[in-house]
Amino acid sequence: MHHFHYSGHDLHCESVDLAAVAKLYGTPTYVYSAATMEDNYRRLQRGLAGLDVQLCFAMKANSNLAVLRHFANLGSGFDLVSGGEIRRVLAAGAEVKTSVFAGVGKTEAEIKLALQNGVFSFHVESEPELARINHVAGTVGVKAPIAIRVNPDVDAQTHAKITTGKSDNKFGIPLKYAGAAYEAAAKYPHLAIKGVQMHIGSQLTSVAPFVEAVEKVGPLAAELKAKFGITYFSIGGGMGIVYRDALASGQPGWWDAQPPEKRPLTPESYGAALVPLLQPLGLKILLEHGRFMVGNAGVLLAQVEHLKRGAGKNFLVVDAAMNDLIRPAMYESYHEIVPLQRDSSRRSLTADIVGPICETGDCFAKDRQIQDVGEGELIAFMSAGAYGYAMASRYNTRGMAAEVLVKGSAFELVNARESFEQIIAGEKIPAFLK
Ligand code: LLP
Repeated sequence: MHHFHYSGHDLHCESVDLAAVAKLYGTPTYVYSAATMEDNYRRLQRGLAGLDVQLCFAMKANSNLAVLRHFANLGSGFDLVSGGEIRRVLAAGAEVKTSVFAGVGKTEAEIKLALQNGVFSFHVESEPELARINHVAGTVGVKAPIAIRVNPDVDAQTHAKITTGKSDNKFGIPLKYAGAAYEAAAKYPHLAIKGVQMHIGSQLTSVAPFVEAVEKVGPLAAELKAKFGITYFSIGGGMGIVYRDALASGQPGWWDAQPPEKRPLTPESYGAALVPLLQPLGLKILLEHGRFMVGNAGVLLAQVEHLKRGAGKNFLVVDAAMNDLIRPAMYESYHEIVPLQRDSSRRSLTADIVGPICETGDCFAKDRQIQDVGEGELIAFMSAGAYGYAMASRYNTRGMAAEVLVKGSAFELVNARESFEQIIAGEKIPAFLK
């Protein structure tokens, strides 16, 4: 469910007319729905009722300060992957005490920053990292809380670039070596063993791989509890969202109307399958969902520049580009594209929907059917709240898009569009070229 819907002919986010947002702040602009994020947070909590759950929102999906503050206010911690992300959480006025620090290449400076801010735990990806965290903790004069990321060798049945739990992925320590890694960790004077972690991939659309992974790692978690007194098991993130019928999926009744075999993963079905497996462990359960929390809570607004009618092919050229939303170019991912003003009297049009960037990959959709829209009209890319702005770049010297947060009938600019002066602020001409 989400809070994007047509009211009359006009696409709204909660009670806000998106055309009004575009008029005020221009395009391309990301717009996020606070109510959708809150609903997702609460549904996940309810879906896993019966467990002691801590959500650590995977902020790599969307790290806007307002979004972080919203989740912190709801009681969420964060799944952090860099010193920059730690500093973002602090800048959002939140704490990192309920957050975990993951990633295969944490630097000494990042480890130090996490320790100084009382991070809940480090998710350790390799044995050399144990030594490094131990060393830094020694210099800071604290014991570093750790969990080892175990790679359960499960096929997440998702896109190759976002699967992480297979033995040929770079992540974690294979299950069969995990026992030895914990023995090694126990010998370090500045480490405190606190938990165990796994994460098998992203955009999972069925619960089966989660079940398989929990069944594989669960016995190890029980053993570690008995041996080292671990207190938590992080089962990672990865819950997928609806991309194809994104707009319809926000309407009441849509989910119930789906045949069971086609019904996407929900927090309820996820919880129903996993709670019985996790409850007997008697451990705190950490969740690191990113996409599920924010994916369908955001859209990217863009304006049509031209409709270019080619030989047997139409191109709808819009003012957003692959630098703003790279997912279609990078993962061949599908984003539903809808007009901001719906007009049923118009014919539909089949076109490639493309940005202005000088490469063929700057294409959001091929042969897509969309209502006939012309120059100056507005469209929205659905399901753009996760890995949208967060993966944007300045390619072609295009500034970063603006971001707006909506709550009810209120909306505010939460990140101003980047100016040319900001883009080049760090650059200079060296003396030897002058
Ligand atoms: N925990 C760990 C250790 C992760 O590596 C990730 C995502 C997550 C949690 C959150 O996964 P989520 O709940 O969002 O699926 N840029 C790609 C997705 C990359 C995911 C990387 N790791 C995309 O746009 O599809």
